[in-house]
Amino acid sequence: MLGICYGQQLIAHILGGVVRKGDKGEFGLAVLELRDGESELLRGVPDGDRIWMSHRDVVSEPPEGFRVLAATSTCETAAIENPARRLYGVQFHPEVVHTAHGREILENFVFRICGCERDWNPGKRIAHVEAQIRSTVGSRKVFFFVSGGVDSTVAFTLCLQALGPDRVRGVYVDTGLMREGETEFVETTFERLGHGVVEIERRETEFVGRLETVRDPELKRHIIGDEFVRVQERIIEERGLLNGEWILGQGTIYPDTIESGGTSKSATIKTHHNRVPAIRKLIESGRIVEPLADFYKDEVREIGRHLNLPSELLDRHPFPGPGLAIRCLCSEVEEAVTRVPEGYLVPVRSVGVQGDSRSYAPVLAIDAGLRSAANLQGEATEIINRMASVNRVISSVASREPMDSQRVFASEITRGRLELLRKADAIVRELCHKSGFDREVWQFPVVLIPLGAGESRDSVVLRPIQSVDGMTADSVSIPENLLRDLSSRLMAIPEIAGVYYDLTHKPPGTIEWE
Ligand code: XMP
Repeated sequence: MLGICYGQQLIAHILGGVVRKGDKGEFGLAVLELRDGESELLRGVPDGDRIWMSHRDVVSEPPEGFRVLAATSTCETAAIENPARRLYGVQFHPEVVHTAHGREILENFVFRICGCERDWNPGKRIAHVEAQIRSTVGSRKVFFFVSGGVDSTVAFTLCLQALGPDRVRGVYVDTGLMREGETEFVETTFERLGHGVVEIERRETEFVGRLETVRDPELKRHIIGDEFVRVQERIIEERGLLNGEWILGQGTIYPDTIESGGTSKSATIKTHHNRVPAIRKLIESGRIVEPLADFYKDEVREIGRHLNLPSELLDRHPFPGPGLAIRCLCSEVEEAVTRVPEGYLVPVRSVGVQGDSRSYAPVLAIDAGLRSAANLQGEATEIINRMASVNRVISSVASREPMDSQRVFASEITRGRLELLRKADAIVRELCHKSGFDREVWQFPVVLIPLGAGESRDSVVLRPIQSVDGMTADSVSIPENLLRDLSSRLMAIPEIAGVYYDLTHKPPGTIEWE
């Protein structure tokens, strides 16, 4: 048994060790110090290796019979083992890419300790997945919402292959929350793919209409998820499709399920639009098919390559189902920015993930101008570990007014703010594509926050990240020239009060702000 993070603590707790609250948190990169002695689990891991931590509680005394294999400056028990009982624990996260030799540690465990064979290949699972689709769907038909993104396109293609075009209907819904040019992209791409069965539904009034006056992130998600179900029901009714004959297909992937609290023990970080109550009801009554629910994003891309889908589609940056709504931040009240020793406390709350829990906390802004983010991100991690009251750090790139005179305005989702965000997002996409920077990052959300002064009441936050599966992510440095161009193009829009740069890794900040 290998216990990871909470798992190590649970092993220690159950077997008579001591787990207590640490003096400070340890979120993000840390350095591993190996203790003397050989260990099968850490074989090949060098002393001083880079690892990824996300915890505050620690095992302060391992149970009897356990040996400490490694520590960090904050955590005395970064890895423990009791080989005689075949029990192992790590406080850090070998499963995330930021742990330099994480893969080797997992391989040591799976192949050396457990003696498993190396025979997993997502591409080879296609026949199995198609068989699963046929068995779930039975004699019914599948109504599929496609978004133009990787997951839904791959899942849709699998359903088409498994069931044939007569039993699968694809609908793309323009929710009014999509990026500029997205609907046209979907139209032409699906036509070229020869899928030919995708219909475009324009439902902006329904979605945006219901979101006006909403400010709470989880409420936004619930409304959007519900609206997808309603639109589905309406389309089924309008077209005279017999309800019981149709089930819903979705491109849900494994991380969506984890973060929605969908596995038995995980906390709800955020409810993905495909996990709202109305959808859960459909799942319970066996009326959903999700061919990719066991796969991570990188595996989905690999399956897509086996299905011969074009790379321009497979290599697209992920875009969340709830769209720009979760990048358009709102505030209940008007409140001034306050000076603190570390920088400025901006009372816009955003979602984060610390340990296994959700956080919803204000942002700290530091003033770094065009200084490269490389050394600022370490500073950001350190600040968040120290200041329990914030979960995100941004650096100011440009602003019309000095930070002291800015405020957060009471604000909600409006068509105007969505339009402003769409415009800013299109500028960022254009410049990143021209400079080739879009190929260096995994995703580049552009976020609108209600921070400003006078008539300019919104600011833009740039959030380029590197990741493999979206479960963890690194904030990425934007080259100085590009940052300057982005800033001057964005500041040319009169409604925009400032441009900021998110320095926060995930954890402790999630990729989306909500
Ligand atoms: P977070 O913000 O949780 O994002 O760090 C992780 C990845 O998931 C994407 N995301 C979503 N994708 N439906 C989706 O299809 C959703 O509701 C959703 N929420 C977040 C996000 O863009 C990032 O790539």
